[in-house]
Amino acid sequence: MTGKILVTGANGTLGSAIVQTLIRKGLPYIAAVRDTEKAYQKLGTDAAIVHFDFSDTSTYQQATEGVSAVFLLGPPLDYSLDALLTPFLHHLKTTSINKVVYLSAMGVDVMSDALPFHNNIEQKLSELGFDYTILRPTFFAQNFKNYEGDNIKERKVLFSPAGNGKAAFVDVNDIAEVASVVLSADGHSQKVYTITGSETYSYDDVAGMLSDILQEPIAYPAPSNTDYAAALAAAGAPPFIADYMNSVYALIRDGHANKVTNDIELITGRKPNSLRSVLEKQFA
Ligand SMILES: NC(=O)c1ccc[n+]([C@@H]2O[C@H](COP(=O)([O-])OP(=O)(O)OC[C@H]3O[C@@H](n4cnc5c(N)ncnc54)[C@H](OP(=O)(O)O)[C@@H]3O)[C@@H](O)[C@H]2O)c1
Repeated sequence: MTGKILVTGANGTLGSAIVQTLIRKGLPYIAAVRDTEKAYQKLGTDAAIVHFDFSDTSTYQQATEGVSAVFLLGPPLDYSLDALLTPFLHHLKTTSINKVVYLSAMGVDVMSDALPFHNNIEQKLSELGFDYTILRPTFFAQNFKNYEGDNIKERKVLFSPAGNGKAAFVDVNDIAEVASVVLSADGHSQKVYTITGSETYSYDDVAGMLSDILQEPIAYPAPSNTDYAAALAAAGAPPFIADYMNSVYALIRDGHANKVTNDIELITGRKPNSLRSVLEKQFA
């Protein structure tokens, strides 16, 4: 590796885990964030941080100086993510940076009608001639804390429209470990990795696990899409969020996420962390 690794989305759940992994491994990095104050609080005052916004082309030049590889992560809940990220891909083409590791999602092929953006970006990386690697993780184990933390702690319920389907929820620290390897080593060009935990669980299983960890009953009423949309509306969320999330949860409900791969072990040499270990850290 000749230069630094630029990590976009570095204030977020996965991006911050990647930066912490690169720091631990002594790999040169720059954390690209919109909110630099938050980043210094999160990553430490001696962290390498640059102000960066996909929607502000004037931030591109400084962020890419001395960089040889980019971890590309787009924010969630944006139907036009491909339009947001494309100007930055065109900027990279004006530099010597050709290596891009893109955070896509498991099931993009199934979701291409409802949520086409990850597919579009994967295709664009190929068309523009990048030396790319695509990471397609399944549902993050951290979603239970990030998206359902209040439901679990205050209302004692999991309320996602996932039906009785199953997923092999993955620890973002495992995705970060995979990313650190493919960003810094050869042999991963034009590859697609599907990243999962080692066991699949239904939401009912997870409710049982949380009940055990918290020592109090957590229910999973398997809400319909309509009940879920009504609950989000009652909480003041704009309607597009329920539409977006219903499309995402359909992957679990319809059985497309009921899958385990061994890509984490192939790339890192060790087994994935268990869902239970993540939930214990966050809820015990
Ligand atoms: N959650 C899952 O189960 C799952 C599974 C598979 C794939 N994914 C994919 O993972 C991605 C989300 O990752 P995450 O959960 O780590 O995200 P996250 O925690 O929501 O963080 C996203 C970060 O994006 C940054 N951001 C927002 N708008 C930006 C802009 N215009 N320019 C530059 N940065 C911007 C924000 O930075 P600041 O804080 O600095 O404003 C934020 O910290 C999505 O693409 C999603 O499709 C998620």
